[in-house]
Formats: sequence, structure tokens, C-alpha cells
Amino acid sequence: MPAPPDDARSQRCELIAVERCGADGVRIVVRPEERLPRLRGARFFMLRREDDLSPRIPRPFSLYRQEGDTLEFLVKVMGRGTRALAASRPGDALRLVGPLGNGWPDFEPDRAIVMLAGGIGSAPFFVGVKDALVAGVLAADVTLIYGAASAGYLYDFERFEELGVRVLAATDDGSRGFHGNVLQCLAAEQEAGRIPDDARLYACGPGPMLRAVERHARAAHVEAWVSLEELMGCGVGICNGCPVPTRPDGPLGSWGNAKCCVEGPVFSVDAVTLV
Ligand SMILES: Cc1cc2nc3c(=O)[nH]c(=O)nc-3n(C[C@H](O)[C@H](O)[C@H](O)COP(=O)(O)OP(=O)(O)OC[C@H]3O[C@@H](n4cnc5c(N)ncnc54)[C@H](O)[C@@H]3O)c2cc1C
Ligand code: FES
Repeated sequence: MPAPPDDARSQRCELIAVERCGADGVRIVVRPEERLPRLRGARFFMLRREDDLSPRIPRPFSLYRQEGDTLEFLVKVMGRGTRALAASRPGDALRLVGPLGNGWPDFEPDRAIVMLAGGIGSAPFFVGVKDALVAGVLAADVTLIYGAASAGYLYDFERFEELGVRVLAATDDGSRGFHGNVLQCLAAEQEAGRIPDDARLYACGPGPMLRAVERHARAAHVEAWVSLEELMGCGVGICNGCPVPTRPDGPLGSWGNAKCCVEGPVFSVDAVTLV
């Protein structure tokens, strides 16, 4: 049975800063009691305040940035859990469980890569871009297409631009960058010859976007991985609250469902069926 990663632990951390970000987001910087080694992009943590303002069940968040002994999260304020985190103040105590999940697969420098981010789905790409560069992928071969309904939901866009790779904005209302969604932007870039047709795809964002990426990857016969943001109860494989249907002919097909928390959140589109 899939188990939580060996390096996962539960620990207290001190909240260092909370800053507004975009139309409805916050950046949360925390310092865990125990310093963590460098982590790969798309791994995640379960996070809650230690007091009763947070629901008892912690919420999952991708690692956004890691600097020295601090971790940073990019949080879209949705409901009770994220509102409680956003209302925290420096010095507050948070409970952190992780690092959890598998993270992006090893990046290989033999081919161009395209990262497709939808709204808050950009969070796992900051470290992801750095991982790709460390793995030897040339900066010119990395494109991040960052899409959102409108410019206000492109959280921390300028920071992504500072990573030194191509970063393109795509907005549904045309308020910033390409007027359209991330796949339309990808098609336009490929038509213009700026991105090769066989580029590997990595995507994180809302369900409809990921299903479109899955369909596109299948039709175009390109390799693609998606990082899923399923609702989660425990994050460590116990509650069965995060099933993802597997493809019977795929590498996980011997079981009908995979557990997103311990077998994901990153899956090859050959392994799962997005519903
Ligand atoms: C592996 C993983 C990584 C994630 N990384 C991030 C991240 O970096 N930043 C971030 O802001 N969020 C991230 N999420 C999503 C985040 O966990 C949820 O937004 C959060 O749990 C909402 O908690 P809440 O108590 O504020 O909202 P709730 O009160 O639980 O829900 C409020 C409303 O939002 C809906 N909702 C809750 N979670 C989701 C979801 N995942 N997708 C769509 N609708 C949802 C609920 O159905 C409800 O309608 C991640 C999720 C996973 C599984
Ligand atoms: S969240 Fe509990 S099993 Fe995945």
C-alpha cells in the first residue's frame, strides 16, 4: 500500500509574514522548528493554525518558495481554513505536516518544457522552474504560461518573471498578455514556432483546465504531468478522501483509484482519468 513519504513529519512553525497578493490571495511565510532540506516543486504541506480559528482538519498547500529556513505558501482565500490562515499575524503558531506527496518528476534536459499554470495553480511552479534549471534544462527551453480569468488572479506574476525563463500571461478577459486560455496561448506559440510541438507539459490549475491539458496531450501524443488539487482529509493516505480514477491500461491500473495525497499529487496523464 502507498505510504506517506519518509521525510514527512508534524511540527510547529512560527508565522513570519502574511502579505496580500493579487485579488484574493496571500503569501504566507513560516519558519518550521526543524529546518527542512531543499524540497522539490509540487510537494505539499497540510497547514492549520494551532488555535480554534482553523478547522480541525488542516488544508493542503503546495510549497511555493523555500529560502533558508523559511517556507512560503501562496494561498487563495476560499473558505474557513484559508480565511483563518490569512487572518494570522507574525508570531502566531501554525501546525505543519509534510513534506507530502511526490512532486514533479525529474526534469530531463533533452527537450523543451512548458509549464501551464491556472490561477493559484502557479504555486508549485516557482520551485519547479528552479528544479528544471538545476537539472540542466536551458532557460530558453522553459516556458511558463500563466493563465487566469483576469490580471488580478495572476498571483505574484513579477516574481515568476524574475526566474529568467519565458513567462507568458494569458487572461480570459485579455486584461494582461494573451487574450485566451493557456492552451490557446500554447497553440499560438507553437504555430509561431516559438515552442516545439513535442515539448513536455506540466500543468496545475482548475479541473476543467487540467482535463483540457489531458485531452490535448493525448491528441498530440506528448508527455504530460498534472498536479491535482483534490479535497483532502488527512494528506497521509488514511482517510480515503482523495481518490483519483486510474486508467485501466496505465501504470497504476491494477487499482481502480489512486490516492492523490500519497501517490500524487503529480500524475502522468497516462496514469489517471480526470473527471
Ligand atoms: C496538493 C494540493 C496543493 C494545493 N496547493 C494550494 C496552494 O498552493 N494554494 C492554494 O491556495 N490552494 C491550494 N490547494 C487548494 C487548497 O487546499 C484549498 O483551497 C483549501 O483546502 C480550501 O480550504 P478552505 O477551508 O479555505 O475552503 P473550504 O471551506 O474547505 O471550501 C470553500 C469552497 O471551496 C471549495 N474548494 C475547497 N478546496 C477546493 C479545491 N482544491 N478545488 C476547488 N474547490 C475547492 C469547496 O468545495 C467550497 O465550495 C491545494 C490542494 C491540494 C490537494
Ligand atoms: S487525503 Fe486522506 S487518504 Fe488522501
